[in-house]
Amino acid sequence: MPSEFALFPQRASTIAGSVDALYFFLVGVSLFFTVLIFAMVFGFAIKYRRRSEEELPRPIDGSMRLEVMWTVIPFILTMVMFAWGATLYLRNSRPPDGSLEVYVVGKQWMWKLQHPEGQREINQLHVPVNVPVRLIMTSEDVIHSFFVPAFRIKQDVLPGRYTTQWFQATRPGEYHLFCAEYCGNQHSGMIGTVTVLGAVEYENWLGGGASGESMASTGERLFQQLGCSGCHRSDAAGRGPALEGVFNAPVKLETGETVIADEPYIRESILNPRAKVVVGFRPIMPTFAGQVSEESILQLIAYIKTLARADRSKR
Ligand code: CUA
Repeated sequence: MPSEFALFPQRASTIAGSVDALYFFLVGVSLFFTVLIFAMVFGFAIKYRRRSEEELPRPIDGSMRLEVMWTVIPFILTMVMFAWGATLYLRNSRPPDGSLEVYVVGKQWMWKLQHPEGQREINQLHVPVNVPVRLIMTSEDVIHSFFVPAFRIKQDVLPGRYTTQWFQATRPGEYHLFCAEYCGNQHSGMIGTVTVLGAVEYENWLGGGASGESMASTGERLFQQLGCSGCHRSDAAGRGPALEGVFNAPVKLETGETVIADEPYIRESILNPRAKVVVGFRPIMPTFAGQVSEESILQLIAYIKTLARADRSKR
C-alpha cells in the first residue's frame, strides 16, 4: 500500500510540469506569508506585552514606508500570479494545428467517445503518445466535467454547447478519467480510463475497430436521410447555402455580420437555423432540435469538415 501512496498524480502530459510549477509557486507564497504572519502575531504579543498596570503604549502616527511596502509587494506578487496563470491558460486553450480530434458526449452516467475514423468507446479513451489531441465535448443532459489528473486537464462539459480541451500525452500508460462535476447520484461512478499507446500500437488499435464506418460517412448518410442534401447543394438550385469549403471559413450573414463556421456555428444552424441566416438565403430551414442526437450532430459536423478538406485540396 505505501508504494501506491502518492502525494501527486503522475505527470503524463506536456502541460503537467508547468501546471505543477505554478501550483508550487502559489503554495509557496501562501505558506511563506502564513508562517510570517503567525510568527509576527506571537512574536509581537510576547515582545509588546503589558508589563505593569501603569504602562501606557506610545502613540503611533503611522508609517509611509510600511504602507508603501505592504501595498507594493503584494501587488507585484499578484501581478506575477496573474501573468503566469494567464500565459498558462492561453497555452492550454489553444490546440496546435493538426491536432487529432476526438468527440466526447457526457451523459448520466457515462462518457461516450468517438474517433473520426469511427471507433466508439465508452468510459475509455485511446490516444497516441506525443500527438496533440483535441476534444470536442458536449453533454446530453446536465453539466459534467472531463478530468484527467495525470494530464492536469479539467474542462466542464455543458449541455447545449461545445467546449474543447487539448492535451499531448508524453508517456504510454493507463490514466484515470473522472467526472469532476456533481451530476446526480451516480456521479462517483462516472469514471474511466485514458490509455496512451505508442504510435504503432495506436495504429493497430485504430485498425482493429469493428465499426468500419468513419464518423464522416455516418454523417453523410444522415445528411441524406434527414433531407439536408435536398437544399444544401453545390449547384445553383440549392435553396440553402452550399457547404463545400464552409468549415472554419468566414460566413457572411443577413445582418451584415461575418462569423466563422466552426463547430458551435454548425450545431446552432442545425438546431436553430434562424439564429444566423446566411446572406442571400431565406430563413426556410426547419429546426432539427429533438430529431438528432448530440452524437448525430457531431457526425454531421465531421462530414461537413471533410467537404471543406476535399474542396481545399482542389484549389
Ligand atoms: Cu458526470 Cu459527475
